[in-house]
Amino acid sequence: MRILFSGRSMDSEPWVAALREALPDASVEAWSPGAAPADYAVVWMPPQQLFDEQRGLRAIFNAGAGVDALLSLALPEGVPIVRITDAGMAVQMAEFVAQAVIRHYRELDEYGRGISSGAWRTRPPRPRASFPVGIMGLGVLGARVAQTIGGFDFPVLGWSRTPRTVAGVACFSGPDGFHAFLARTRVVVCLLPLTPDTENILNRDTLSRLMPGGYVINVARGAHLVDEDLVALIDNGHLSGATLDVFRTEPLPADHPFWRCPAITITPHVSARTLHAESVAQIAGRILAFHRREPVGGVVDRARRY
Ligand code: NAP
Ligand code: GLV
Repeated sequence: MRILFSGRSMDSEPWVAALREALPDASVEAWSPGAAPADYAVVWMPPQQLFDEQRGLRAIFNAGAGVDALLSLALPEGVPIVRITDAGMAVQMAEFVAQAVIRHYRELDEYGRGISSGAWRTRPPRPRASFPVGIMGLGVLGARVAQTIGGFDFPVLGWSRTPRTVAGVACFSGPDGFHAFLARTRVVVCLLPLTPDTENILNRDTLSRLMPGGYVINVARGAHLVDEDLVALIDNGHLSGATLDVFRTEPLPADHPFWRCPAITITPHVSARTLHAESVAQIAGRILAFHRREPVGGVVDRARRY
């Protein structure tokens, strides 16, 4: 079995070494143009040239949860694409979103600014029930986030493409359930895959439907959000702010208006990192299972685009 690795902004050497250790009977190499034909490719944002050259791939393993960048390439027809599912990302996403929700609800940024200017001043506690948190996407990450936020006694809502049941979560689905979900949400968390149906889904119309004082947490993809609509709704007071971990252009350009908006907290796409050991173990296990013609988890539905 021959495996190629290609990961943009990733150091190939530890991935290749770990895959070799996990799959001692396989030949594993970092891809370079003209590489000999392989059975499997393990990739993150690979170049088109890899697929133009490698016509005999039996499966493609995405070294991340989101497959939007991979699906934007011309991929060989009919070759299964397998993405990372969890592998240590869900707990990271839950802790990141929990800190963003709590930081907002407990006004910790305001306290931080006051304390740094020497002000010892308390604010009245705010009723938790008036901060319903709505999670867009109830998949591997969204469901874990919904359960974690529920653990802090916030009212939790969820929205998915098909009907889902998550304990303690008021679940909505499909276009018919979207406006009702938004109307009952104050803090919205985006954990959708980026697809033609979800691109620009956080826009002036949808964000205006959130409860007054709404807050946006985008930890999915930058292209879910219409940047200028967010800024306009913060400026007119309908939204109170946002925590953004993902952007249309990454790194976020130095002249982007988000940098000058104090109500927006920016992090550099770190809410749930691909953990090397967990991901290699998952991918190696799935390559072996696939090779033995056993069922594997994480297979992407190419028509659905996630
Ligand atoms: P997942 O398990 O595939 O879950 C996707 C969820 O979104 C499902 O509940 C799905 O509905 C729902 N959905 C898809 N299209 C929809 C639509 N048109 N309308 C309503 N709901 C829709 O994905 P995941 O593993 O949780 O990951 C979600 C995304 O997080 C990834 O695609 C990636 O972009 C992002 N991510 C970001 C980071 C980061 O560091 N910032 C890290 C990892 C992942 P159904 O349940 O009905 O299928
Ligand atoms: C990171 O954003 C991922 O999709 O794994």
